[in-house]
Amino acid sequence: MLFVEANGARIPAIGLGTWELRGRACARIVEQALRLGYRHIDTAQVYENEREVGEGLRASGVKRDQVEYHPYLDQSKVREACMRYGMALVAYSPVAKGRIKSDHALQRIGERYGKTAAQICLRWLVQQGVAAIPRTSKLERLSENIEIFDFELSEEHMQQISGMGSAGSRLTDFGMAPKWD
Ligand SMILES: NC(=O)c1ccc[n+]([C@@H]2O[C@H](COP(=O)([O-])OP(=O)(O)OC[C@H]3O[C@@H](n4cnc5c(N)ncnc54)[C@H](OP(=O)(O)O)[C@@H]3O)[C@@H](O)[C@H]2O)c1
Repeated sequence: MLFVEANGARIPAIGLGTWELRGRACARIVEQALRLGYRHIDTAQVYENEREVGEGLRASGVKRDQVEYHPYLDQSKVREACMRYGMALVAYSPVAKGRIKSDHALQRIGERYGKTAAQICLRWLVQQGVAAIPRTSKLERLSENIEIFDFELSEEHMQQISGMGSAGSRLTDFGMAPKWD
């Protein structure tokens, strides 16, 4: 495969177009394309087939996925497996759906760095090589959540935060989710 490179992205030169592909036919062709080695699938809201593209992706078994990850949930096994297999790990619910902001231990650590509990939490994630996708509806928190690249947590603080997690502290459990622990 050749790749088109732009702005740090590496885009497979041949992808699959899906406009006007609908229903099971769409899911089947996407699944088959991924099995054949396609890694660039086009879709858009206006095609009204995002669900089927997703179904094809799921059925293909191609490795992908985000997981819930924040200091209350121990994801060390998943993280180590991702590192072993060269996979990116993306943390959803990274500030534990907002609960992190009133965590006293993280607030105390934050005082040492002049940062909020949420910033300490997000820094702990990215310092492990994990990407995080915090959601906010507040403009000021957009800045807060991205201003985490001007400091580094000490090893002691990294370990302290890692020690807050346990295996059974999942905040989201979809019916369709795998059996996690
Ligand atoms: N792949 C999946 O299965 C999956 C599942 C769940 C979520 N996700 C994705 O992951 C995203 C994030 O997860 P999430 O929405 O469940 O939870 P989250 O990002 O951990 O938490 C969002 C909540 O935290 C608050 N918040 C954000 N930044 C904050 C800050 N700096 N200080 C204090 N509070 C803050 C927000 O409130 P305000 O709006 O008031 O700031 C909001 O109520 C989702 O929106 C979605 O895009 C993916």
